[in-house]
Amino acid sequence: MPRTKLIAANWKMYKTPEQTREFFRDFLPLVSGHSRDEIVVCPPDVDLASALDSAKGSNVAVGGQNVHWKQEGAFTGETSSAMLLALGVTHVIVGHSERRQYFCETDDTVNLRLKAALEAGLTPICCVGEVLEEREAGLTDDVLRRQCVRAFHAVSARKASKLVVAYEPVWAIGTGKTATAELAAEAHAVIRREATEVFGEEFASKLRILYGGSVKPENASTLMAQEEIDGALVGGASLDAKSFAAIVKY
Ligand code: PGA
Repeated sequence: MPRTKLIAANWKMYKTPEQTREFFRDFLPLVSGHSRDEIVVCPPDVDLASALDSAKGSNVAVGGQNVHWKQEGAFTGETSSAMLLALGVTHVIVGHSERRQYFCETDDTVNLRLKAALEAGLTPICCVGEVLEEREAGLTDDVLRRQCVRAFHAVSARKASKLVVAYEPVWAIGTGKTATAELAAEAHAVIRREATEVFGEEFASKLRILYGGSVKPENASTLMAQEEIDGALVGGASLDAKSFAAIVKY
């Protein structure tokens, strides 16, 4: 069974609600009727309502960029899975490297967020990836294995059925440097082996592993042609409707 590819936009801290509406106004006609791949746009939380309203009845889903593990409480600045669900959000990014780099996200908090998202029935896009020094020191496989083992800790295959993993080499994010398709495929194979260890072969064979890091209309088709690459997590190039549509239709 071929895995349906997931093409996800990570808008990071870009766009206002009005700009979100403008994006959908331009983007939806460009991808209408496109059923080969699953499409999701993850805007900042303040834009979720506008995105959901604009995307209603379309083939585009809306995701959050982060989720807290508690349902509610005194956690200033955080958003819970219950809140995302109440809006109609279906996907959520977990453990993005920018959260790890700038907001003290650890393997343990990634695990808590991942479990909360799965428990709520959201589709988590769990990000893993090595920094340049780790790659240069030959530590890529070890880093990916550690991040996966810790992220998947105490998660059962049954609970994890919606899990999506995104391999995002940190040195390729926003830098214009893309991992070669072969290099990405190698990393994906390491992640799939780890998922096999943790969840079993049947689960791992269905697990979607996305590639992220300077995906552009120009390199999308080469990357997506790799059997191991089950979609893309797109930052910069997802902010423009035409460019993201071109990636979706690689
Ligand atoms: P980029 O970001 O496409 O701008 O490199 C990808 C990401 O951080 O998810």
